[in-house]
Amino acid sequence: MGNLTVRPYRPATDFRAILDCQCDLYELNFPRFVCTPDFVAEQAGRLRQVQRRPYEHQIFVLDDAGTLAGFVWVAIRMDLQGVFGSVDQVYLKPAYRGQGYGALLMEAVHRHLKTLGVAYVRLYVTESNRAAVNLYRRLGYETIRLEMERPL
Ligand SMILES: CC(C)(COP(=O)(O)OP(=O)(O)OC[C@H]1O[C@@H](n2cnc3c(N)ncnc32)[C@H](O)[C@@H]1OP(=O)(O)O)[C@@H](O)C(=O)NCCC(=O)NCCS
Repeated sequence: MGNLTVRPYRPATDFRAILDCQCDLYELNFPRFVCTPDFVAEQAGRLRQVQRRPYEHQIFVLDDAGTLAGFVWVAIRMDLQGVFGSVDQVYLKPAYRGQGYGALLMEAVHRHLKTLGVAYVRLYVTESNRAAVNLYRRLGYETIRLEMERPL
């Protein structure tokens, strides 16, 4: 898999690169979504939280000789069932898809959560995104709830 490495987020160089991926990530997963400057600004605000709350947010970057090839964003959250790791975003630039790098990023998340003593990891995925669904299933993820909709 070449010389690609997974490393923690560095705001100075990664902030803009991750922001540049946001429209593609959401357009791929939400067919009716339209990317606007307001949306990108909102994502920039979320990304700044990563620096402010390092105990809550962690991003791992797939680095190809100094260029961002992809990233995964995990947050520690709590709900009725207790504390869990929430994989909020996983993204590979098009040239890096279909080669196993998604698994590499997810494994970094799993290691990180285990180090923190977090026992469960959870995520949302669009059902039509077969590459993503298959990846998560291969890594042991199972469906625990279904979000359903119908047109009116
Ligand atoms: C979803 C994603 C993280 C999967 O990571 P990955 O490293 O590409 O995963 P894999 O290498 O296991 O490949 C996934 C599937 O895509 C297929 N594939 C091959 N070439 C591909 C390409 N150029 N682009 C997309 N998928 C490709 C693979 O054959 C594989 O099929 P399979 O699951 O039936 O075996 C990655 O494709 C991605 O970043 N997609 C865009 C962003 C996105 O949708 N993120 C998920 C949000 S929940």
